[in-house]
Amino acid sequence: MTTRPSVIAHRGYSAIAPENTMAALVAGLRAGADQLEVDVHTSADGVPVVIHDYTLERTTDGTGRVADHPVAALTALDAGGWHSAAHRGEPVPTLARVLDLIAAHPGVGLLLEVKPSATRAQTATMIDEIVARDLAGRVLLQSFDEAVLRDARDLAPAGLRLGLLREALDDDPVAAARDLGCVAYNPGVDALLAAPSRAVAALDAGLLVMVWTTDDEREWRALADLGVTGIITNRPAELRAWLSAT
Ligand code: G3P
Ligand code: CA
Repeated sequence: MTTRPSVIAHRGYSAIAPENTMAALVAGLRAGADQLEVDVHTSADGVPVVIHDYTLERTTDGTGRVADHPVAALTALDAGGWHSAAHRGEPVPTLARVLDLIAAHPGVGLLLEVKPSATRAQTATMIDEIVARDLAGRVLLQSFDEAVLRDARDLAPAGLRLGLLREALDDDPVAAARDLGCVAYNPGVDALLAAPSRAVAALDAGLLVMVWTTDDEREWRALADLGVTGIITNRPAELRAWLSAT
C-alpha cells in the first residue's frame, strides 16, 4: 500500500448508531474517521436536512415525504427509535447542525451528498450554509444528479470541491468528471472492482476516487492496493484499525 485511503464514515458510524443522526456522526468522529458522509434533502420551508430517503417511514416515526414537512416538524421526529431503544429520540439533524459539528472538529471533512432532484435554489442554500461557516475547503459536495452538479459548479465558491457519484463506471471516468467540474469520481465498489483499470486511470489523471460502500476486509485490501483516495464504510473504527494493522 503506497498511500492509505482515508476513512469515510457512511451516514456516520451507521453500523452502531442510527444513520444520519448526530449520534452516528459523533460516533464516526470518535472512531477516527477522516470524513463523515451525509445525505441532504430540503424541508418544505427550504431548510436543508440530513436524511437518506425521500420519505420518512424507514428511519423515523413520521410518515410521508421529507419535502412536504417544515423543518420544525422534521426535527421533532424520532430518527433513532427504529435503530435501538438506546437511541430513541435522536432527531433528524439540520445540515446547519452537522456543519457546526464539522466546524468544531478541525481536520475532519464532510462528504455531503445532495440527493437527486434538488433544485438550483436548494443547492444554493446548502452552499450558502457551507460558506457562512467558512467550510468550503473541508466539504466535498457529491451527487448522482448531473443537473445538481452543474448548478453547484455554477454556484460554488473557489475551494468547494465537487464529486460525481456513479453506480456503473463510465467508459472514460476522467472525461465524465471533468465535464461537470468535479475533482472526485466516486463509484460503487462492485463496479470499480469489476474494472479497476478505469479507477487507476482516474487516479493517474489526478482525480480523487472515493468508493462506496464496503465493510468487507477483502474489498478494503483490493481498494487500498489500487491506491483509492477514500473508502466509504459503515464501520469506520474497524477500517481505521485494519489500516493501522496493515
Ligand atoms: O457516498 C455515496 C453513497 O452514500 C451513495 O449511496 O444510497 O448510501 O446514499 P447511498
Ligand atoms: Ca449517501
